Amino acid sequence: MEDNIEKILWTENEISERVTELGSQITRDFKSETVAAAAAPAIVGVATGAFVFVADLVRKIHLPIPVDFIRVGSYGSGTISNAHPTISSSFQLKLDIRGLHVILVEDIVDTGNTLSCLIDYMKSKGASSVSVCTLLDKPARRKVHFELVGEGKYYCGFECPDYFVVGYGMDFGEIYRNLPYVGVLKPEIYKS
Ligand code: PRP
Ligand code: MN
Ligand code: MG
Repeated sequence: MEDNIEKILWTENEISERVTELGSQITRDFKSETVAAAAAPAIVGVATGAFVFVADLVRKIHLPIPVDFIRVGSYGSGTISNAHPTISSSFQLKLDIRGLHVILVEDIVDTGNTLSCLIDYMKSKGASSVSVCTLLDKPARRKVHFELVGEGKYYCGFECPDYFVVGYGMDFGEIYRNLPYVGVLKPEIYKS
């Protein structure tokens, strides 16, 4: 598996340091009076890719937070984004998010289709604000502009260059999610 990695973009340590900073930032923001009372946010991870980031991030947020997951339509085994993702009917939210501040947690924002769909969904379920915390943001590939809801904030770990990246939750053909770092796959792997 590791033989198929061309280079490492962020090491396990670099990710860990950044995740700690993001957790502290979220803790400060949602403790402060800039957000309304009962401010502890609900964390909603986007399955599957965000599962590693969610697990690390929530342990760096020092607030009483519920944690849930949601799934949207997937890229499947390819590398091309789905322009019309839908919420998976077999993987619904367990939490009632009405009136809650939601933080959607993603591994990567690419075209923006997934987040745009999820932000609308959280809004339709009555979230009082929707924030986003993504480990990576790849602005070069953005197709859809999304707007946060209410006093929602945008947290980003690193800006990602326009490579197909895997590891730390991110897959190619459902493999590589368990790499502890974020790396670039050798092009011959996904072009073959
Ligand atoms: C990947 C990634 C994000 C989404 C970003 O998920 O984890 O959720 O794509 O792309 P977008 O901004 O173009 O919508 P994917 O659909 O591959 O499912 P997975 O998390 O199960 O791998
Ligand atoms: Mn995903
Ligand atoms: Mg995927």
